[in-house]
Amino acid sequence: MTKDVFEEEKAEEGFEPLIVAYCCNWCSYAGADLAGTSRFEYPTNIRIIRIMCTGRMDAALVLETLRMGADGVLIAGCHPGDCHYQKGNFMMEKRYDYIKKAVESVGIEPERVRLEWISASEGGKFAALVREMTEQIKELGPSPFRAVDNSKEGAGNE
Ligand code: FES
Repeated sequence: MTKDVFEEEKAEEGFEPLIVAYCCNWCSYAGADLAGTSRFEYPTNIRIIRIMCTGRMDAALVLETLRMGADGVLIAGCHPGDCHYQKGNFMMEKRYDYIKKAVESVGIEPERVRLEWISASEGGKFAALVREMTEQIKELGPSPFRAVDNSKEGAGNE
């Protein structure tokens, strides 16, 4: 994840949401890959970051992703019972409410963050989810964090 991706999106005319998807390596990333190889159409608003397991996700990473300018964050992992690390997705599910509360506490609509289970064979589900989430975020409008000028980061700390 680099700032260049976010800067590129900000420069565009009109609002096209930027959604960052953290997909677990073993199921959801393969599902996203299948969506591509099956040529399912879905909006180009999504940027996929492969993680080993949704158990790795926490509130700090979600907040940092939003701070850097994402309008939405999708966390996608194996279906319950299918996690390759056995309990990673259960741990993520337990954290999900806390993550949404943390997002809300900084003035961001919690609906901008979603947790979904997508298997390696669910390319169609992945494509449909991206379409649905893109429309949902368009209705919400740009993230309030988009207005923050990150180029002044660190100013006043000298
Ligand atoms: Fe997919 Fe844990 S490996 S959620």
